[in-house]
Amino acid sequence: MSQQPLIAVLMGSDSDWSVMREAAKVLQEFQVPFEVMVTSAHRTPERTYDYAALVADRGIQLVIVGAGAAAHLGGVVAAVTPLPVIAVPLEATSLAGLDALLSTVQMPGSVPVATMAIGKAGARNAALFAIRILALSDASLRGRMIEFRHNMALSVEEKDRALQVTVAAEFDQAAVTLAV
Ligand code: RP5
Repeated sequence: MSQQPLIAVLMGSDSDWSVMREAAKVLQEFQVPFEVMVTSAHRTPERTYDYAALVADRGIQLVIVGAGAAAHLGGVVAAVTPLPVIAVPLEATSLAGLDALLSTVQMPGSVPVATMAIGKAGARNAALFAIRILALSDASLRGRMIEFRHNMALSVEEKDRALQVTVAAEFDQAAVTLAV
């Protein structure tokens, strides 16, 4: 039996999925149960309202929203639910996501939407931000986040070691050594 979802990942169109999938991948990696739904602030306003009105009662703790163009989905959901809403502006028009970024980030006072970067980095960070919030009251999840950060640092150090070798082979320069 699947577990009670803790996070909802909403998007304005199925055309957003290729980017929002990055959020789903992170949630899966951290073993956080989630649900996914297509609903549009403009094309299906009643469906969006009905979902947002009940999402907190269904045990969901955070809502991640991805939308492009004149992206109002995050704001509409935040207007209806008391849950924290984390939004990802998406590239869907000739304005390359800037339209969605401004629509998402410029919320009027009293209706907060935490806005991430445009595109895949934003989708990934939305999930990681949600996990950090859940980890405030989940020691096991906090442990997984600490391990994730440790592994990320190790991978940067590994890349640096490889670069030092490459540079030493091509240029007559001393390698950087950090005093620790
Ligand atoms: C937005 O319009 C969606 O979030 C999507 O990014 C964009 C374009 O949607 P489609 O025309 O591809 O369905 O509401």
